[in-house]
Amino acid sequence: MRIGIIGTGYVGLVTSCVLSNYHNVTCYDIDKEKIENLSNGKCIIYENGLEDLLNKNLNKSLFFIDNIEKLVTENNVIFICVGTPQGENGSADLQYVYQVSRSIGQFINKRKVIVDKSTVPVGTAKRVKSIINEELLNRKIEIPFDVVSNPEFLKEGSAVNDLLNADRIIVGIDSVDASEAMSILYYPLLEENHNIKYLETTVESAELIKYASNAFLATKISFINEIAMLAEKVGANILDVAKGMGLDKRIGNKFLNAGCGYGGSCFPKDVKALIQTANENGINLSVVQAAQDVNQNIRANVVEKICSKIDVKDKTIAVWGLAFKPETDDTRESPAIYIIKELVKHGATINAYDPQGMENFKWNVVEYMNNIRYCKNEYECVADADCLIIITDWNIFKEADMGLVKLKMKNNILFDLRNIFAKNKEIRREFEYYGIGV
Ligand code: UDX
Repeated sequence: MRIGIIGTGYVGLVTSCVLSNYHNVTCYDIDKEKIENLSNGKCIIYENGLEDLLNKNLNKSLFFIDNIEKLVTENNVIFICVGTPQGENGSADLQYVYQVSRSIGQFINKRKVIVDKSTVPVGTAKRVKSIINEELLNRKIEIPFDVVSNPEFLKEGSAVNDLLNADRIIVGIDSVDASEAMSILYYPLLEENHNIKYLETTVESAELIKYASNAFLATKISFINEIAMLAEKVGANILDVAKGMGLDKRIGNKFLNAGCGYGGSCFPKDVKALIQTANENGINLSVVQAAQDVNQNIRANVVEKICSKIDVKDKTIAVWGLAFKPETDDTRESPAIYIIKELVKHGATINAYDPQGMENFKWNVVEYMNNIRYCKNEYECVADADCLIIITDWNIFKEADMGLVKLKMKNNILFDLRNIFAKNKEIRREFEYYGIGV
């Protein structure tokens, strides 16, 4: 198959590199510098296994071009993988999806399948179809085409693996032709991995599956975070509570790790957008709304807890972890942003360290740059610190020499907001230790 991918961001690039194992894939991006880097085998994002895959298939079955007309005319399946940032009122900003749809309408030359992989609210595929039709009307020609919804379920840090070993592939179609094209497209991947479930639905159901899945996972996290607050009060241990709950197969043990709340480029944005879509349709999603509220409150509670144990004014606070989760340099909506800003407002000076996320993080807190020192490693970060806060559960923090850390610190207060040492008796004895719900 000849596949064209529009947008080489996170989703577009992972999808292209994986699909080029099986098909001929060409990618387009409006950003010429990105295209140039990718054409030279330089991966522009930090993602496990992605650069290897890029270089394996580059110029064999994977190509990068900066001409959208060529991309549309020379391929028979066109993926839309552009960003859908948060717009006004929390709804998804669809301007890039619409711009791309217009270009497709301007250049489409024969029957094609247009696949929407960008995360978009229910009803967007219909809008994409009508935009393409508007352009065809302007050109006074008729060309048949299908619009398919094929949401992604990639986690940052394990995105390549998440696609190669997906739990499911969801394909929302409204014609036999589209159904046939999509099953041919995914056939080699499904043949290679029989555990992947392939589900065909209507376009609207596929669009909703994406949002409902993310909102459900976000709700699971907020649920366990709230139970963790109760656990702390009643003397229970959230790690055991979560383990005990997770043994029930109906509940499952995933996404029950209590912490300082979810962040990233998906959950916060998608939860808001789903609430907005529901509001527009006269439905009040009170459970999802509560998940969002709890996620906001949890950060404020954490800061309150820290400030109740230590007067942070004029103190040096070491922070380990700025990325919203490990194995990524992404700091979007990271709990670290809120927590660090609040501590600085309370008069603290921050020593910060993250293995990948420091450059991205700086942009979120420029107004506080005089109060934040970015350190070379986890040990420099704790030197003379009054307290250490662990915000992201990177492995290097789990494996740190905590004896050395204690020696370097001025005071031995440790806030472990991801519970990485919650089961470590020695660390809990050696430090004034505060976990989450333990
Ligand atoms: C998520 C979805 O998992 C993925 O399917 C979708 O396509 C995009 O959004 P991602 O944002 O990469 O992926 O990260 P994920 O691993 O899901 O974690 C999201 C946030 O939840 C992180 O801040 C993480 O620290 C937090 N989290 C996750 C918890 O606090 N507890 C958990 O048990 C799990």
